Amino acid sequence: MEKQGPIGVFDSGYGGLTVLAELRKKLPHQDFIYFGDNARAPYGNRSFDVVYEFTLEAVKFLFEQGCPLVILACNTASAKALRTIQQKDLPLLAPNNRVLGVIRPSTEVLGERTKTGHVGVLGTTGTIASQSFPIELSKFAPDTVVHQLACPMWVPLIENQQYEHPAGRQFIAEDVQAILAKSTQIDTLLLACTHYPVLQQQIENLVGPTIQVVPQGPIVAEKLEAYLVAHPEMSARLSKNGEVAYFTSEATTIFNERASSFLGGQVSALHHSF
Ligand code: DGL
Repeated sequence: MEKQGPIGVFDSGYGGLTVLAELRKKLPHQDFIYFGDNARAPYGNRSFDVVYEFTLEAVKFLFEQGCPLVILACNTASAKALRTIQQKDLPLLAPNNRVLGVIRPSTEVLGERTKTGHVGVLGTTGTIASQSFPIELSKFAPDTVVHQLACPMWVPLIENQQYEHPAGRQFIAEDVQAILAKSTQIDTLLLACTHYPVLQQQIENLVGPTIQVVPQGPIVAEKLEAYLVAHPEMSARLSKNGEVAYFTSEATTIFNERASSFLGGQVSALHHSF
């Protein structure tokens, strides 16, 4: 029988940790390997080709670590690299392995969350420019109107832990005002970048109680659980000891310190660079 392996979780940096935390809550028996490409983050302003190249390297690395299934816990990578990897690379690299993203699961449920039919989507420049959210959402909730805003400063503010400084708060407040100015009917704001859940409280304070702020982690966890039920052949290939290992392309001391603030527990990462 084939050796079982963990689920790989990839992000450009720390953002995917917000998804990993929800995956571990929902699927506590599964093993996970997290890889953060922190040395090359952020990806948000990078070109299509570069995001694809970096993401493919990460997927290959996670396959080498024995992961039969990899989650791109990064909207930018999901928007710019997922389809090419699924259609072009996977059949050559490892046809029985799977790579899944975070955009499709979010758009599957977003239409059910809004009462007014107007949703706001906040993401990186790359994610918003890709139009992935309006395109995907039109398949599941064609009547939903999508108002998008790129927030290029948010990932750097989060990666550098400056989102609670006055200048950081000012940037965030201006962007929140800018998306709300697009329509008075917005009642749902999707945090379409896995870094943004650390700003959830700050954003909720800005928008008030009539607008729901939706992070992706719980949605992705619920959809992954359903995927594993629907794909017992994949579930059988996954190891289940409740363990998690972390890799970063940055210095591990930096990663361990900052990752702990995302996860609220001690992390001891290993280094991997390309
Ligand atoms: N967490 C990534 C996302 O969801 C951040 C991208 C970046 O590195 O800019 O898009």
